Amino acid sequence: MAVERTLTILKPDCVRKELIGEVTQRIQEAGFDIVAMKMTRLTKDTAGGFYAVHKERPFYDELCEFMSSGPCVPMILEKENAIEDFREFIGATDPSEAEEGTIRADFADSVGENIIHGSDSVENGIKEANYFFTEAEVVANKA
Ligand code: PPS
Repeated sequence: MAVERTLTILKPDCVRKELIGEVTQRIQEAGFDIVAMKMTRLTKDTAGGFYAVHKERPFYDELCEFMSSGPCVPMILEKENAIEDFREFIGATDPSEAEEGTIRADFADSVGENIIHGSDSVENGIKEANYFFTEAEVVANKA
């Protein structure tokens, strides 16, 4: 199976609930290698750019408002089959539909405030990683 990169964001609700440590530990215990990580605060515009694909959806404004409401922690993760495995690990977008033991089932309040993001395809993983990080900020974890 190919090694893939996925972009995750520990969203502002994750930071506010003081869950950075716990969620990061679970990510690593699940076998994902962190190859880039930072804490940053998005503006409404930079959040809007990241979620541009959802521009026409009714929740777009609310999503950008929420994503710029406090600091967040983007990371690039590497693992075999990372995209699919990470989506499974975090659970369904709507936490009420997320499987028991997933990050969203355990910590998220609603479909809008759902703790964590995960890329939905290899192509988007690359695009999203490039949105937050330069190649120089990515470390070769196992070197
Ligand atoms: S997904 O994962 O792309 O299939 O999910 P989708 O339903 O398309 O949602 C895309 C992102 O929009 C967020 N979202 C919402 N925000 C606010 N209000 C409502 N109602 C809402 N519905 C969906 C959702 O958390 C997804 O964020 P990411 O960061 O991509 O998981």
